[in-house]
Amino acid sequence: MTIQWFPGHMAKARRQVTEKLKLVDIIFELVDARLPISSANPMMHEIIHQKRRVVILNKSDMADPSITEKWLEYYEKQGIRAVAINSKDGKGLHKLTKAAQAEMSEKFERNLKRGMRPRAIRAMILGIPNVGKSTLINRLVKKNITQTGNRPGVTKAQQWIKVGKELELLDTPGILWPKFEDSEVGYRLALTGAIKDDILNLIDVSDYGYDYAAKYYPAFLMSYLGTDEPMTPKEMLERLALNRQLTDGEHIDYSRAAEHFVRDFRALKLGRITLDRPEELEMAEEADEEV
Ligand code: G4P
Repeated sequence: MTIQWFPGHMAKARRQVTEKLKLVDIIFELVDARLPISSANPMMHEIIHQKRRVVILNKSDMADPSITEKWLEYYEKQGIRAVAINSKDGKGLHKLTKAAQAEMSEKFERNLKRGMRPRAIRAMILGIPNVGKSTLINRLVKKNITQTGNRPGVTKAQQWIKVGKELELLDTPGILWPKFEDSEVGYRLALTGAIKDDILNLIDVSDYGYDYAAKYYPAFLMSYLGTDEPMTPKEMLERLALNRQLTDGEHIDYSRAAEHFVRDFRALKLGRITLDRPEELEMAEEADEEV
């Protein structure tokens, strides 16, 4: 699902999230493991206020595993609980309950001292479109019995998925918008298919993807292109176009070649590429400290 976001949509999405927040103890903030920052909504803190959260790096099967490790270390250093999962095949889902329990433990201990009985943790999934919210919810529904009953004080329309005894998940996720005023973020979102192809020029997206891969994943490019000859993004498109006959006999069809490259990038034909790297944030933080 890709939505064109306008201020009205954003305000409505935010209102809906705010309503749901009242029902839960904790947020599972779902992001794409290939772009944990670019696929996060930058207003998350403002929107969820003091609500506890666990960052879920979803689609970890598509991301560069060594960078996912680095991201997990980064979050740990920041004091943010984070886990990596794959909703498509269900790998790592057991980590959700554990992480939620760890995050809520202090509060529940305090409650216990006040004589309040322990209860299941109530959670909701929050994230921008296409990060895998529905896939994760469907996975959990398949694995678990959906509770259809309502609880007093809880809106009738809301249903809860019981995940074991310890966790209850709202069956509808909160949807937030991506931010791509920054073209770099836009290109990264586009390379994973998180935003519509008509928003950005596909040749620019393809050029960005090629340059990024040439910088960080040269070996992937070599086996994808069958050469380690240095070339410009334009020359790469020409090569692809000639190999795949994307010409009208005389002229190279650059747009179609770019379409092919972006499609291959998304389908992991180059390999598992992570587009956001923790060192970019660390460098930005260091620069801030120096100012
Ligand atoms: P959303 O609700 O957040 O908008 O996302 P949704 O679940 O619709 O997932 C978006 C796409 O991402 C889907 O692919 C889905 O299968 C895929 N996906 C979700 N989680 C994972 C994951 O952990 N690993 C992988 N590899 N893919 C994941 P699609 O192409 O739109 O649909 P389909 O081809 O799977 O039917």
